[in-house]
Amino acid sequence: MRITLVHGDITEQPVDAVVNAANSSLMGGGGVDGAIHRRGGPAILEECRTLRSSRYGEGLPVGQAVATTAGDLPARWVIHTVGPVHSRAEDRSHLLASCYREALRVADELGAATVALPAVSAGVYGWPSDDAARVAVTTVRAARTRVAEARFVLFTADVYAAFERALLAAGPSDEEIAARLAAQPGERWRELFALADALTPADLEVTWRGGQEAGPGVTQAPYPVYGDAVERILGLLGELGVVVVFGWPDWVRGNPLWPGGRGLEDAPVADAARLATAIVRGERFGDGTIGHALETGTLQAVLRRLRRWHDEERPR
Ligand code: APR
Repeated sequence: MRITLVHGDITEQPVDAVVNAANSSLMGGGGVDGAIHRRGGPAILEECRTLRSSRYGEGLPVGQAVATTAGDLPARWVIHTVGPVHSRAEDRSHLLASCYREALRVADELGAATVALPAVSAGVYGWPSDDAARVAVTTVRAARTRVAEARFVLFTADVYAAFERALLAAGPSDEEIAARLAAQPGERWRELFALADALTPADLEVTWRGGQEAGPGVTQAPYPVYGDAVERILGLLGELGVVVVFGWPDWVRGNPLWPGGRGLEDAPVADAARLATAIVRGERFGDGTIGHALETGTLQAVLRRLRRWHDEERPR
């Protein structure tokens, strides 16, 4: 899926589906909602009324999405979703993420290939632009969807700039990372997997040095020492382009291997690269990240996913 950014009016986008930042009543409002109903005409409101008199008698819940006709818009459908109102006291990011995930799920049900999306909740609902952009981009980037183009349409220059920053922080796409891995020489991959196969429990040992007096009142900070095999594996992960440049501190908050995460086995190989990056880069922010990854089996899970990609998915 391609993610594109447009600085403009979402009602002017010739796409299959336009996502509306609606409210639960589905009866229209201001902002995107007002523009879509104004430009799309009464047919949209008619179908919203039907939805309210049937499936959504209580209104469309926050984080959910439902489709109607696009009326006179240059699109086939409008996918209405209700963003959460921003709160300082409560983290509602999961509800904002749900808007995008559900909108793409509905788009898949419709067979929409191109979808225009606004910065949900970033207007009247007061969500700070940078965080609204981060949630939007990371959620859409991680979504398993058949949509070919997710086009964020940003009305104001400041929100457009926030999405540009978020896209940069999200780093290369799954496809770009996989292409970079595929371009690496086969013998380097074979060396990496041979090292991984030969790892013994002793190789996974971490010894801590330092911690001794280094002068009056000065103690050298303790630091981890990893075995040669692990050091060579880490070096190869760098040389093979597995360590990528992206905003890993944000990404790793949704670590696929954490409880409730979707795991790595069925994730794109790019997620194995992103996780390897968080492990390697994390070591610079706090000694022992690599040791912890060895202890929890996270680094081994990354190596397993890279090998499955190499053996089964890498273009021949
Ligand atoms: N095209 C693209 N983006 C737009 C457009 C447009 N025509 N009009 C406004 N926007 C932008 C806003 O600048 C903001 O960045 O969409 C983002 C979301 O703003 P809102 O439309 O206010 O949506 P939201 O913050 O989710 O609040 C939803 O506002 O309009 C009412 O009925 C709606 O009650 C609901 C609430």
